[in-house]
Amino acid sequence: MTPNEPDTESGPVQVRGTVLTVRRVDAYHAMTIVAPGVAARFRPGQFVALAVGGPDTSLLLRRAFSIHDVRPDHGGTVEFVFAANGPGTRWLAERRARDVLDITGPLGRPFPVPRDPVSCLLVGGGYGSAPLFSLAGRLRERRCSVDFLLGAASGDRIFGALTARRTGRSATVTTEDGSLGVRGVVTDMLGQVIHEARTDVIYACGPMPMLRQVTALAGRYDIPVQVAVEEAMACGVGVCMTCVLPVVGSDGITRMVRSCVDGPVFRGEQVRWDDVGTIPFDAFGAPGWEPRSRRAAQAAAAAAGDARHRGWPKRPAECSTRSACRGQVSTRSCGGTCPGCCHAAHVRWSRSPEAPSRSMPSWPRVFPTRPP
Ligand SMILES: Cc1cc2nc3c(=O)[nH]c(=O)nc-3n(C[C@H](O)[C@H](O)[C@H](O)COP(=O)(O)OP(=O)(O)OC[C@H]3O[C@@H](n4cnc5c(N)ncnc54)[C@H](O)[C@@H]3O)c2cc1C
Ligand code: FES
Repeated sequence: MTPNEPDTESGPVQVRGTVLTVRRVDAYHAMTIVAPGVAARFRPGQFVALAVGGPDTSLLLRRAFSIHDVRPDHGGTVEFVFAANGPGTRWLAERRARDVLDITGPLGRPFPVPRDPVSCLLVGGGYGSAPLFSLAGRLRERRCSVDFLLGAASGDRIFGALTARRTGRSATVTTEDGSLGVRGVVTDMLGQVIHEARTDVIYACGPMPMLRQVTALAGRYDIPVQVAVEEAMACGVGVCMTCVLPVVGSDGITRMVRSCVDGPVFRGEQVRWDDVGTIPFDAFGAPGWEPRSRRAAQAAAAAAGDARHRGWPKRPAECSTRSACRGQVSTRSCGGTCPGCCHAAHVRWSRSPEAPSRSMPSWPRVFPTRPP
């Protein structure tokens, strides 16, 4: 098979892709590259890594970009959106049609999609909204409803507001300077949107502080959240350990996992946000780490869950999410006072190729369901 020949096997490929277009989209650039092998293997949430700077460059490391869209034209094209902030991205912004780039992808693990038609809220910060539109398409194929919540510092840094309004069941936009939509940040509106959309699942992509806040708020409603993190990367293929972050497995053990191959998509509540950028003393393999019994680790994880549960806000006894579960699911120990139990109990993740089983971090293949 030639490098550019499309095929449907899994795993990334390295190809020399021809630039089709580079266009300005407000504060960003959108680049489309002919890369059939990458397009054929793509699942929403995955990214590409591009060699930048040309053959004589000192920019040795590839740059990572979330894939915005793939199309069948020219055998298969890949589009990504980027902010020209540093030397690598500025060089990319100067490329023109017919330039040839070295591109590797699709890399990383994609967003898992729910098995059943549920209500999905897609939260994007800045160019972080770019990968959410292909995910929205995949979710709609599964008859999920899709609501968007997009935020950025200013209106020109919101990517895809029009598409979100056109394709989403609802689209809420926030900007810090108030130039578009509601003045503020996405998390200011998150609670309101969750209630109005009766959200079952949240997907989020954007800056790490935003992902951390979205996870914290989603936790208050016990809504599962899948985040696509953007940790600094060097190799992008799991070799260098530059991109590690601490993630708690369902066995209660924290492991330093590579966001390029074990992510970039993680369950938000499994990321130890306070410890990102460090190796926590209790992480697997950290200096002085001692193996705990599996039972002790699970007890610790359960205790942490209980503590979080106690922090939920009190709401009227009539659970607002009953319409989502049609009253088939019994409520949790909160006795129906929190708004999220039915949501969390109902989401079952697909085991299709979008959600490959994984051993690191431990990945619940089926979200726990409650007996009627
Ligand atoms: C999974 C993933 C998806 C991404 N998706 C996008 C996207 O869709 N659009 C976009 O504009 N940017 C995206 N980024 C960030 C993008 O990789 C950086 O903006 C880019 O590498 C900066 O390169 P530079 O030479 O212009 O800047 P420099 O700051 O000079 O980059 C130097 C080095 O730092 C690393 N680096 C710098 N900033 C970041 C960052 N924010 N995240 C990760 N590594 C960084 C680069 O890999 C490079 O090795 C993504 C990063 C990751 C990890
Ligand atoms: S970037 Fe090298 S291991 Fe992830």
